[in-house]
Amino acid sequence: MRVLLIISGGIAAYKSLELIRGLRRHGAQVRPILTKGGAQFVTPLSVSALAQEKVYDDLFSLTDESEIGHIRLARETDLVVVAPATADILAKMANGIADDLATTALLATDRPILVAPAMNSRMWAQASTMRNMELLKANGVMTVGPAHGELAEGEIGIGRMAEPADILAAIEAALGGPLIGVRALVTSGPTHEPIDPVRYIANRSSGKQGHAIAGACARLGAAVTLVSGPSNEADPPGVETVHVETARDMLDACLQALPVDVAICAAAVSDWRPAEAETQKIKKGRRTNATSPNLELVENPDILATLGARENDRPRLVIGFAAETDDVVAYAAAKLASKGCDWILANDVSPHTGTFGGDDNKVHLISRTADAPRIEEWPEASKVEVAARLAERIAETLGSAA
Ligand code: C5P
Repeated sequence: MRVLLIISGGIAAYKSLELIRGLRRHGAQVRPILTKGGAQFVTPLSVSALAQEKVYDDLFSLTDESEIGHIRLARETDLVVVAPATADILAKMANGIADDLATTALLATDRPILVAPAMNSRMWAQASTMRNMELLKANGVMTVGPAHGELAEGEIGIGRMAEPADILAAIEAALGGPLIGVRALVTSGPTHEPIDPVRYIANRSSGKQGHAIAGACARLGAAVTLVSGPSNEADPPGVETVHVETARDMLDACLQALPVDVAICAAAVSDWRPAEAETQKIKKGRRTNATSPNLELVENPDILATLGARENDRPRLVIGFAAETDDVVAYAAAKLASKGCDWILANDVSPHTGTFGGDDNKVHLISRTADAPRIEEWPEASKVEVAARLAERIAETLGSAA
């Protein structure tokens, strides 16, 4: 893997040193271009020491031009990454301006380009920046971030460069993986079913497992739509995330995402919702004999079963979770049939397991076969590892079915 890494002038440039280390650890060859602005934040010496490559910074250097010209620099790579990408370099890229080595290489390249924007949140929100980003996206430039968080000036907002690990994941996805060309739909998190404008019915799902699955599929190259109920998890990089509250909204968003090749329903959808959500807050009775409100519940749509039963656009692989507290495998096997899905990942969510909200998961994969369901026990692992293993299994299965 060869990466031409352009470091432009932003405070986030220090994170690009970490990115170079990550790329080198992955065995990538990194050729760095440091803009004049970039060199105000990191030194050519640190960049070159980490990349174990010469740093290119001068368009008209006679030695460079004789050794390796900007055209070769732009083409002898698998991917061009601009990290950090300032508002200035994005504007130049969007408008075809080539006034230094970095922008000339960007104009000359015929390779895919990934940008990691980094700037103050007001600069990011500016109409001109948004317009430039639209132009770049329309030209096929890929983006990772920017993220929400603390900015250099002590402000909080959108504009932080994506973390090096997220940029690495986006690079891996951009360079292709076994799920390239595969569309995946993932549900994650709990749902909130309103009782009145301030109260709702929910559950303890954190969204960690579902979000990890969406990220793992994207890393292998899938185009992923994640439909997430309320969760504290960050939107995974490179994934289109749709935020919903209720089961009915989740179902609508899932149907909107069809057709897909694989659907993974990891959300803990509330089975019931209050029949009628009050439009005003229900008041506690002040009279001594005041009765407590009676909640009438009605059943929510079953998203997994709905996707499994689609006639014309049923995903080729429909995967559900079975979170049980007893007889986990037996219940899960029964669920395969009742939900019309192909695989079930069964996990024990008894309080002692710490699965809900925790970082680890112990699952059984139960798959449908012509005869009895096949049961596979997976070792206890982090939710991220379970997600990676599942994404690989999906790739093998869809690949061999193609
Ligand atoms: O029936 P149960 O809730 O145990 O089934 C769990 C599986 O079904 C999970 O994959 C969950 O995402 C899915 N499900 C759903 N819609 C519901 C209830 C569950 O998609 N209303």
